[in-house]
Amino acid sequence: MNPSASLRWPRTLFARLTVILFVGLASAQALSFWLTRTERDQTMTNVMMGYIEREVASSVALLDHLPADERAQWLPRLARRSYEFILGPGITGGPLDAQLSARVAQSIADGIGTRYPLTVNSAPGDRERLQVHLKLSDGTPLTIDMRPMSGAPLSRWLVLVMLLQLAVLVACCWFAVRLATRPLHKLAEAADTLGPDLKAARLPEDGPSEVARAARAFNSMQDRIAMYMTERMQILAAISHDLQTPITRMRLRVDTMESEAESVKLRQDLQEMEALVKEGVTYARTLHGATEVPLRIDPDALFDSLVCDYVDADQAVSLQGHFGAPLMTRPQALRRIVGNLVDNALKFGDSAQIDVAASPDGHATIAVSDRGPGIPAESLEAVFQPFYRLEASRNRSTGGTGLGLAIARQLALAMDATLSLHNRVGGGLEARLTLKNLH
Ligand SMILES: Nc1ncnc2c1ncn2[C@@H]1O[C@H](COP(=O)(O)OP(=O)(O)OP(=O)(O)O)[C@@H](O)[C@H]1O
Ligand SMILES: [Mg+2]
Repeated sequence: MNPSASLRWPRTLFARLTVILFVGLASAQALSFWLTRTERDQTMTNVMMGYIEREVASSVALLDHLPADERAQWLPRLARRSYEFILGPGITGGPLDAQLSARVAQSIADGIGTRYPLTVNSAPGDRERLQVHLKLSDGTPLTIDMRPMSGAPLSRWLVLVMLLQLAVLVACCWFAVRLATRPLHKLAEAADTLGPDLKAARLPEDGPSEVARAARAFNSMQDRIAMYMTERMQILAAISHDLQTPITRMRLRVDTMESEAESVKLRQDLQEMEALVKEGVTYARTLHGATEVPLRIDPDALFDSLVCDYVDADQAVSLQGHFGAPLMTRPQALRRIVGNLVDNALKFGDSAQIDVAASPDGHATIAVSDRGPGIPAESLEAVFQPFYRLEASRNRSTGGTGLGLAIARQLALAMDATLSLHNRVGGGLEARLTLKNLH
């Protein structure tokens, strides 16, 4: 395994900011805790040394002045938590090895002064222990048995407070990071929902000033896009509409033409132009967003009537499968999409088969397939572009404007459906429409 893989930098901004903030704050806290503790231990040791220096010196002086037979009864009273006096030579041992013992021995030597020559050695024991040996003025050996204590242990509440601090730290980190990343999340969501109908939810323009500014910029961008699109649609609609009048005039003129052959050709051209104008207006309208409201419909009835219309017109269209449940959708848009797909299948493949199926998780697929030439893999997406046609190399009679699939895709997007094309095994094309969230 790659060793760096286990230490990989997290991918989300949320995780990265959390790691940086948490590691930074936690190490600052640990450092300050260590400083406080070290400082406290040092101060305590200093105080303790001063105390030992004075206490031991006065105890030794007292014992020295007491008559020899009274000394023993004083010993318990002179004993302290970290040392006691023993009348006797004590035990001998090696030199001092611990730093704290050396300091204690030094303090005692400082306190007692040069009146009593001292010998110091470490003594065996489960904890650090030392013995200081001296002789009182009358020659009696005296031993100070010491178990020096370093600092005071941590109190339990300190641990609790530290845990509490840690919890506050985690909560603050989480809150700060969420504050920073949530607007980004919302922005991405809003940009995602900005569909062809341009009715994305507006971002709230409040909150911290940077966020408010980004939200304002996003909202005004959304407005601008909507304005450009409307303008585009209006221009297209106006041109298409204004073209209708001269086309009608021309048709009238063609009717009064003398040459029959010429007028047939011209009429054909005019028909093509009319179709183009009509499709242009429809495309502009779908671009601007389907205004149709979703209805609860019986999809099986819709598909039956659609297929009947084709069969009545002597077209080879068949239907397989059924939904068996009502559907919440925009019926006219759905009819138009499937109609465009069936028209293509008939135009390029001579027959169309519609397969419908609903899945239990609330999705439905409608597949329109034919056995025509299919579409080269590299053009499967390109044919969705308006006016894009592969027909230059194909039969002239399959003339069209190249807007059918573009319109179908726009309507599908507005319905929150997906439309894709697939070449079939054995030849032909399958156009698949997937509807989501049907209930
Ligand atoms: N079922 C199909 N089989 C083979 N090629 C297809 C099929 N459907 C579409 N195409 C190709 O995709 C192109 C674009 O299709 P689209 O429906 O947008 O335009 P069109 O059918 O040429 O014209 P319009 O639908 O506007 O009358 C077609 O010109 C054709 O080359
Ligand atoms: Mg078409």
